[in-house]
Amino acid sequence: MPAANAPLFNSSQAAEEAENAGLSPAAGATFGDIVAERFNRRDLMRGLLGVGAISATLGPAALAEAQPAAANPTPSFAFTELSSQPTDRTEVAEGYRAEVLIRWGDAVLPEAPAFDPTRQSAASQARQFGYNNDYLGYFPMPGAANGSRHGLLCVNHEYTNEELMFPGLGRQDAGGPLGRQRAFAGMTAELAAVEMMAHGGSVLEVRRDGESWAVVAGSRYARRITAHTEMEITGPAAGHPRMRTAADPAGRRVLGMLNNCAGGRTPWGTWLTCEENVNGYFSGRLPEGHAETANYRRMGIPGRWMNWGDYEARFDVAKEPNEANRFGWVVEIDPFDPNSVPKKRTALGRFKHEGAAGITARSGQYVLYSGDDERFDYVYRFVTEGRVSGERARDMTLLDAGTLSVARYNADGTGDWLPLVFGEGPLTPANGFHSQADVVIEARRAGDLLGATRMDRPEDVEANPATDKVYVMLTNNNRRTAEQVNPANPRADNRFGHIVEMLPDNRDHTAPRFTWDILVRCGDPALAVVGATFNSRTSKDGWFGMPDNCAIDADGRLWVATDGNTPGRTQRNDGVWAMETEGAARGASKLFFKCPFGAELCGPEFTPDGETFFVAIQHPGETDPEDPSAAPATYENPSTRWPDFRPDMPPRPSIVAITRRGGGKIGT
Ligand code: FEO
Ligand code: CA
Ligand code: CA
Ligand code: CA
Repeated sequence: MPAANAPLFNSSQAAEEAENAGLSPAAGATFGDIVAERFNRRDLMRGLLGVGAISATLGPAALAEAQPAAANPTPSFAFTELSSQPTDRTEVAEGYRAEVLIRWGDAVLPEAPAFDPTRQSAASQARQFGYNNDYLGYFPMPGAANGSRHGLLCVNHEYTNEELMFPGLGRQDAGGPLGRQRAFAGMTAELAAVEMMAHGGSVLEVRRDGESWAVVAGSRYARRITAHTEMEITGPAAGHPRMRTAADPAGRRVLGMLNNCAGGRTPWGTWLTCEENVNGYFSGRLPEGHAETANYRRMGIPGRWMNWGDYEARFDVAKEPNEANRFGWVVEIDPFDPNSVPKKRTALGRFKHEGAAGITARSGQYVLYSGDDERFDYVYRFVTEGRVSGERARDMTLLDAGTLSVARYNADGTGDWLPLVFGEGPLTPANGFHSQADVVIEARRAGDLLGATRMDRPEDVEANPATDKVYVMLTNNNRRTAEQVNPANPRADNRFGHIVEMLPDNRDHTAPRFTWDILVRCGDPALAVVGATFNSRTSKDGWFGMPDNCAIDADGRLWVATDGNTPGRTQRNDGVWAMETEGAARGASKLFFKCPFGAELCGPEFTPDGETFFVAIQHPGETDPEDPSAAPATYENPSTRWPDFRPDMPPRPSIVAITRRGGGKIGT
C-alpha cells in the first residue's frame, strides 16, 4: 500500500481547477501537491475551519483581525419556525429546500448494481451506500472554483437495523440493537455479511448545481469502508501484546471499524470517525480469570447485540480474546486518497467515542474534545504535543502524540482536566497500568481512578471558534438517582438531557482548568416536574429533548440535533433546533427541520459559506417505544416508508441537503 502522503494523481482536471482558484502548482504538480497546498492556505483555513485554526498559522495582529467583533459574537437566528406536529416525512422551515442526496443502497462505487432490497448481497452492499448514515464531514474540493459547491462528503455508517433491512426478519423481541439483547432467529452468514458491508463509511464527491446537490457518479474519490477494510493501529497501543491476535501477531493491523457514530475534520484535511458501541459486536465468554475481564466488563463486552461471532471467530471473545481491544478508537482517514490506509489513533483513548471535534489552540496545538456515550461516563480532551504546521504530511502524524485528559466538573462552576498519563497519580502498576498502552486501552478505568465526573451520556462536544466556548450534548440518563445528582448533572431520572457549556481558562484550549455552566435543561417547559430551563421566548414547537449532535455555523451559532424525541415521549419527532447562546435570548430555541417517524437526526454539517446544511436521517421507520398500540416496526410494517414511499421499498436512511430558496445563508 502506498504511503499516506504519496502523490496519487497526476490529473489535468485537478490542475485546471487549481488554476481557476488562483493556485499555481508547479508544472507537473500532482493532485497530492494541490491538496497539500490547498490545506496550507490561509483563506481556506478561514473559510473551512474558523478562527481557531487560523491561529495556527497567523500572528496575533492578523488573528485579532480575523476574530468576530466581541460585541456581537453570534447573531440571532432569523427564520420562521416549523410546527412540531410529527409526520412521516421530512419538513424544513419555510423558504428552504430539503432534498435527498443519497439513500441506503444507492451506488457509491462503479458497477454497483441497482438497489433491490429483496436480493441483497455482501458484494452489492460493498459498492452501495451503507446503512444508518451518522456523521457527515464536508471537505471543499482543493482547487474548486467554489469550495462550498464542490467537495467531498465523508459519511459514517454506524450500525444496521436488520428488522427494517431484511424481509421476514421482524425482530423477535422489543429491543433495539442499542442497549438490549436481540434474538437472532432468521440471521444467516449471508445476511451477517451484508450487515458487515453496510457498516463503516462512504466518501462521496458532491457538487451543487443551482439549488440542487448531486453525488458525482464515477468519482475517483468514491470509497466504501466496511467491517473488513484493512486499518493500521498507531500510537501508544500499537504493537502492544494486548492488541495482538492470531490473525495479527504484530498487533498493528485490524480489519474494519465499527459503530462509527460522530466524528470530526482536521485542519490538514482528514476525516476523524469515531467507534462508539463496539461492545455489541462481540459474543462468547472470556476464559475464567482472563486478564481482560475487568477491562471488558467496564466496556460491556461482550454485548452480543449482533451474532457476528457465529460467523467470524474474531468476534467471539472465547476464540479471540484480544480482538475487542482493537475497537473503540478514533480512526483518521485521508479522504483525498482512496487508497490510504485508515489509522486507528490510540493516543486518543479507547472508549465509546461519540465524536472528535477539534479546534486549533492559540499555541498551534490541535485540541480534540470527545464524549463517551454511556450513562455515567466521561468527557475527554486530547491536546497534541506538536503544533499544526500547515505541512500536510507532517500534520498527518500529529494525533499520535499528546495528552489525553478527562473532565472533572467542580461544584463551584470551575473544572479540571485530569491527565491520563502512565505513572502519574493512580495510573501505576499497583492499579494494573504498566505503560501508556494500558492507560489508553483502559481509558475508562483510568478516568474512574482519577475521579472524573460521571455524566449523563456525553454525546457531541464542539468548540465554537467565535467564542471559544465548548458545548457538551448530554443526551439523557434515566438511571441517575436523587443521591447521584451533581451540579453538572442536576436531575435524577434525566430523561430529556441537557447541554453544558465550558469556557477554557484564558480562552486557551490547552489550559488545565475551565469554567462551566448549564446552557439548558431539556424537555417540555410546560411540565413543572420536568424542570426544563428553555428561555421563555421558546415556543411550544421550539423545545426539544435528548440533544445528541450539534453543529456550529460560520457565524458561531449553535444548531442542535436530537435522538429520542417521539410522539409518545415529547409529542414531536427528532430534528434540528437552532439554539441561541448569547445575550437576552440565550437558551431560546426554534425548530428548523424535522425527521420522519422513527428517525434520529445525525451529522449536521454546513458548507463553509453557510449556504448548505447537510443532515443525515438515521433509522427512519422504527417504532415509537412509548406507543403501546404501535406494532413492532419491521421491513413489512415500518412506521414510514420515507423517502421513496413505495409499497415494495423499505424506509432508507438517507442524507438530505438543505438550501435556501433563491440562495443565501441558512438561518440568517
Ligand atoms: Fe451513536 Fe451516541 O450516538
Ligand atoms: Ca444518541
Ligand atoms: Ca450520536
Ligand atoms: Ca445515535
